Amino acid sequence: MNLLLFGPPGVGKGTQGVRLAEELNIAHLAMGDILRTAVREGTESGNKAKGYMDAGKLVPDDVVVSMIEERILQDRESGFLLDGFPRNVAQAEALQLMLQRHGLHLDHIVFMDAPEEELLKRLSGRIICRACGFGFHRHYSPPQKEGVCDRCGGELYQREDDREDVIADRLHVYHEQTRPLLSFYEQQEGFARIDASGAMDEVLEKLKRVVND
Ligand code: AP5
Repeated sequence: MNLLLFGPPGVGKGTQGVRLAEELNIAHLAMGDILRTAVREGTESGNKAKGYMDAGKLVPDDVVVSMIEERILQDRESGFLLDGFPRNVAQAEALQLMLQRHGLHLDHIVFMDAPEEELLKRLSGRIICRACGFGFHRHYSPPQKEGVCDRCGGELYQREDDREDVIADRLHVYHEQTRPLLSFYEQQEGFARIDASGAMDEVLEKLKRVVND
């Protein structure tokens, strides 16, 4: 099964993407995580991406399209869940052509939404494991031991782009470039829209209902 989750920053794409991909035994392809790994490893793509990411801007399309294509091809047998790609209409068109070229398609396309006030609370409290990338929240889902990942014991940190000023820029970019994906996808087969403002388990149940339909 191949899925796409899209929606604003902080809506829970990563949180739910990890859980849903585990349930369905498919690969979780999170564009932000793939880019952060490339930055950490100092690859050519990572070096190109870093400045855009720190400023909350979109990394150029040619960089992200080739990175995601490589991962999709690696995981085409097991199936995959796309999180954070595409993020504008040009990327959505590139994805459509790429999937056609490889004889693949998306079974479900889910738009997740929540009020901006909730997104701000989620982003400003987010802490992430440096080693495995698992996400926690200072108030909503704190780790058992402060600063330490429950899953792998790694160190937890706050993302550079989760500073208040950068969050505002990311939300602006979302409204300008990513929200228009709604008109691109809403008439397509497999499209669903869910209210992701509830508790994590509630949101997961909604997503499971969509994919089991
Ligand atoms: P990326 O890492 O994809 O960031 P994002 O889309 O801004 O999304 P987030 O990771 O911030 O939010 P999320 O929806 O995954 O929320 P999460 O589950 O963590 O991208 C970062 C940057 O990379 C971009 O700004 C851009 O520069 C670049 N980039 C990435 N993709 C690109 C592309 N395609 N093209 C160009 N550039 C690209 O949840 C947030 C917090 O809330 C967590 O702490 C979590 O624990 C908590 N939480 C989640 N759900 C709930 C809930 N139901 N109740 C309470 N708390 C919750």
